[in-house]
Amino acid sequence: MDALTPREIVQELDKYIVGQHQAKRAVAIALRNRWRRQQLPPELRDEVAPKNIIMIGPTGVGKTEIARRLATLAHSPFLKVEASKFTEVGYVGRDVESMIRDLVELGKNMVQQEEIQRVQTRAAEVAEERLLDLLLPHPPQSLRDEGQILLDDLGQQQYQKTREKFRQYLHDGKLDERFVEMEVQDNAFPSIEVVSGSGVEDMGIHIKDMLGNFFPQRKKRRKAKVPDALQLLVQEEAQKLIDMDSVVKEAVQRVEQSGIIFLDELDKIAGRERSTGPDVSREGVQRDLLPIVEGSTVNTKYGMVKTDHILFIAAGAFHVAKPSDLIPELQGRFPIRVELHALGRDDFVRILREPQNALLKQYTALLATEGIDLTFTDEAIDELAHIAERVNQHTENIGARRLYTILERLLDDLSFTAPDRAERTVVIDRPYVTERLEEVVKSEDLSHYIL
Ligand SMILES: Nc1ncnc2c1ncn2[C@@H]1O[C@H](COP(=O)(O)OP(=O)(O)OP(=O)(O)O)[C@@H](O)[C@H]1O
Ligand SMILES: [Mg+2]
Repeated sequence: MDALTPREIVQELDKYIVGQHQAKRAVAIALRNRWRRQQLPPELRDEVAPKNIIMIGPTGVGKTEIARRLATLAHSPFLKVEASKFTEVGYVGRDVESMIRDLVELGKNMVQQEEIQRVQTRAAEVAEERLLDLLLPHPPQSLRDEGQILLDDLGQQQYQKTREKFRQYLHDGKLDERFVEMEVQDNAFPSIEVVSGSGVEDMGIHIKDMLGNFFPQRKKRRKAKVPDALQLLVQEEAQKLIDMDSVVKEAVQRVEQSGIIFLDELDKIAGRERSTGPDVSREGVQRDLLPIVEGSTVNTKYGMVKTDHILFIAAGAFHVAKPSDLIPELQGRFPIRVELHALGRDDFVRILREPQNALLKQYTALLATEGIDLTFTDEAIDELAHIAERVNQHTENIGARRLYTILERLLDDLSFTAPDRAERTVVIDRPYVTERLEEVVKSEDLSHYIL
């Protein structure tokens, strides 16, 4: 799976994002390079540093969307964070190292899930036996001891037969409505307020871990329907079957070798020498970021994690601040720059109809749940794209996000009246579009507020 070629990666991204070929290419190459590196002999592998990327482009043109879709393709621990939410060490807020801790946590969950998947069959078998025990308790020992040997054997046989019958019922779903009472682990923790904030937050985690081991595992009895009970038991058994130590080891390994961090809004921490107000820590954040991007070791609750080979993909509008406003060391750490283009009418037409999650598809599906058959004519779509472009030019260019506001406005009436309409087929054509939107588009004031 992780052996998608760059071309295939771009193809996958094409399903959701229109245009922006440069950016797709760059991230595809970066992703493929992770895989290439894995194939190298160890001596050389350590030498190959990731080529970090900055995606530059105005708002609403697909930067974050590319990252989101890439995440599902990457099959490696992938974290998306907003650079703007970090603050310099010592200030209130999150310190940059927390992103490595988060990434490891993600990696751990990922490996754990895979392991659980791997032991699923075995866990399901054991869980089924446990559930049958609950449904049909073994005949008490004392009874069995008392009777004659012959009778005992007979009873035993009888029991087995009934048990198999129950098993069949279970498979056929005949017991689905039954309740069983069972013991489950009580994960609810005696409530302790954990102060969250840089440093302290990390301590919070440790305290929880420590106390978790300190208190005996609490069990509580609860009733559950058979299918739910089975699921709970499978989970419990799966957890017992996997070795958390090796999961953690594998997770750390995977994060170090193939982790990817998407640093959104990098431009928000660009800018130097501004020492008033909220800007005070911007450069500080960049300085904190530097060692992590360059490669250092971060202490996490799963052990030390080396960041040398983690790939960073940054993005930002860079409207006010420019990449050259980043501190020079950091600029050097992001050698690849790709630009995303502002979107125009033709892009909007395609965005409206082509992506797998295209807006028009969404609205059509939503209204179909009300029994309404909604269609858009080509001219209507063209008009919508045209309006989006115009409003973007005249007010503020918010890229494809403009389509959301416009469509919401366009379908406002229909959304409200859908359940009560007699007419079940609705065709949106050009006149429909102009009728609903012309007023708002013409008046710049109205556009500002409504679209
Ligand atoms: N090229 C595109 N193709 C398809 N959809 C797009 C495209 N560009 C933007 N969109 C849609 O517009 C919305 C906003 O895009 P996105 O979040 O990627 O913007 P961004 O570039 O990250 O902007 P910002 O700088 O404000 O963070 C998303 O819902 C996305 O699906
Ligand atoms: Mg974004």
